[in-house]
Amino acid sequence: MIDFYLNGKRRQCTDVSPDTSVLELLRTQLGHTGTKEGCASGDCGACTVAIGEPDDNGELRYHNANACITPAHQLHGCHLVTVEGLSRGDALHPAQAAMVECHGSQCGFCTPGIVMSLFTLHEAQRRHPAPLTQESLEAALGGNLCRCTGYRPIRDAALSMGTYPDTHPTWADDPDLAINVAKLRESASTTPELAAQGHFTAPRDLATLRELKRQRPHARLVAGATDLWLEATQQLKVLDDLIDVRQVAELNAIEETPQGWWIGAAVTYSRLEPLLEAHYPAFAHLMHRFASSQIRNRGTLGGNVANASPIGDTPPVLLALDARLSLDGPDGERELPLAEFFLDYKKTALKDNEFIRAIFLPRLADGQNLKVWKLSKRREDDISAVLAAFAWRLEDGVMRDVHLAFGGMAAIPRRASRAEQALEGQPPSVAAFDAAKRALHDEFQPMTDVRGAAEYRQVTASNMLERLRLILVAASNKNSHAEVTLDAYAH
Ligand SMILES: Cc1cc2nc3c(=O)[nH]c(=O)nc-3n(C[C@H](O)[C@H](O)[C@H](O)COP(=O)(O)OP(=O)(O)OC[C@H]3O[C@@H](n4cnc5c(N)ncnc54)[C@H](O)[C@@H]3O)c2cc1C
Ligand code: FES
Ligand code: FES
Repeated sequence: MIDFYLNGKRRQCTDVSPDTSVLELLRTQLGHTGTKEGCASGDCGACTVAIGEPDDNGELRYHNANACITPAHQLHGCHLVTVEGLSRGDALHPAQAAMVECHGSQCGFCTPGIVMSLFTLHEAQRRHPAPLTQESLEAALGGNLCRCTGYRPIRDAALSMGTYPDTHPTWADDPDLAINVAKLRESASTTPELAAQGHFTAPRDLATLRELKRQRPHARLVAGATDLWLEATQQLKVLDDLIDVRQVAELNAIEETPQGWWIGAAVTYSRLEPLLEAHYPAFAHLMHRFASSQIRNRGTLGGNVANASPIGDTPPVLLALDARLSLDGPDGERELPLAEFFLDYKKTALKDNEFIRAIFLPRLADGQNLKVWKLSKRREDDISAVLAAFAWRLEDGVMRDVHLAFGGMAAIPRRASRAEQALEGQPPSVAAFDAAKRALHDEFQPMTDVRGAAEYRQVTASNMLERLRLILVAASNKNSHAEVTLDAYAH
């Protein structure tokens, strides 16, 4: 049974198959058709809803999410808010009122999703008032596409909603809502639910997860579902045996050590952001270009690594940093350097009964530099054609500990060991970089697909090395203020 609150009212849904999405549940079982289906793959944002989960203070925190790829069973112990739940009688919520006033809606298909993203932005502003900037607007609305308005009126609505009377939805009057939602979460069963259509189990501790993996080694793990659910919506696969790792306490921990941080595999990108901002600015910068806020709110580092896509964004960065994995299962825990995890296209060193428990991010050493460049067709919400992550130190004018990692250049994300050798111990000269580019060309045979031809990938990867050289030259020339590329688009 899925026991949750929908727009302030408790709902209990039984016999829901494991692979039902929040969108399907809303539209077919609960008769809430205000939430729309556009792409069914997390891209357009038409299905955006707000999900409230209790925080450490017991208050409900709302994030926007794509209902089309969020498992309905993950609603257990949450407060789901949809476009039907925003107004107070005839009084519109500021996000709605501003959209009407600014003519932010034409055909209206994207509008419920946009309003819900504005609602979560409004909630965030209510908690931590701060002036809206171009960046915060892009972060809030980057996952909502509109075919009609040209975005200007939507942007105007976002900028002006703070000036409307702060009309709270009716459910916000209930002082016990957060406590009741938290109680549902705590009382959730962690034994496999034998629904007619299969299992969906959400263990809350490591011991239970290990035991479940022992009993059902072939059950699929699900975290944010932002990759997995596309198997249901795009490939029409039946996902009838799922173990949800989102609630496992140990997989949600971030543990600091003198050498770095163990990041639990189920930590979402949104939760990781402050740590990256503080310690890895180049990695944090990449996150602005990673999918959309809807995806970053649900997607996890563990899911990105386990998915083993050759064009996943974080593996090259983790490889450049020499990250390690903690793999776990009924037979115990083991550590593995990330470089030994990816074996072949979508094949990893993970055994059937194992899962990723945590990822170790080593601290940047004194003088160690990190640059991360993502090449994609769109700035927001797009998958990389090529992603480069470079780490190095300069010692007495020569490059040391050179790590050059690429995504999109081979069947797996991997380091360019021969190009690294060409730069190791060398000054950043034209000759050294020419040798590195030749080595790079020889050691990668990228594929041709919709994101780029093999030749395009070769040329652009080589250009990224050239960009690194130009940056090193500019840094060594104290009188130079030359920008290597324009910042806004070449993040
Ligand atoms: C619209 C859209 C945009 C996207 N944009 C980007 C992008 O810009 N860059 C990018 O890299 N990716 C992108 N993605 C892909 C996806 O969001 C990421 O790969 C994300 O990190 C997956 O994490 P998740 O928690 O959602 O994983 P899930 O989908 O839950 O799981 C992915 C896979 O990992 C397995 N798994 C999950 N957790 C574990 C674990 N602890 N141990 C072992 N196996 C596990 C699952 O069984 C599944 O096979 C995008 C996806 C969508 C839908
Ligand atoms: S329907 Fe397009 S993101 Fe969900
Ligand atoms: S108003 Fe038509 S898609 Fe946005």
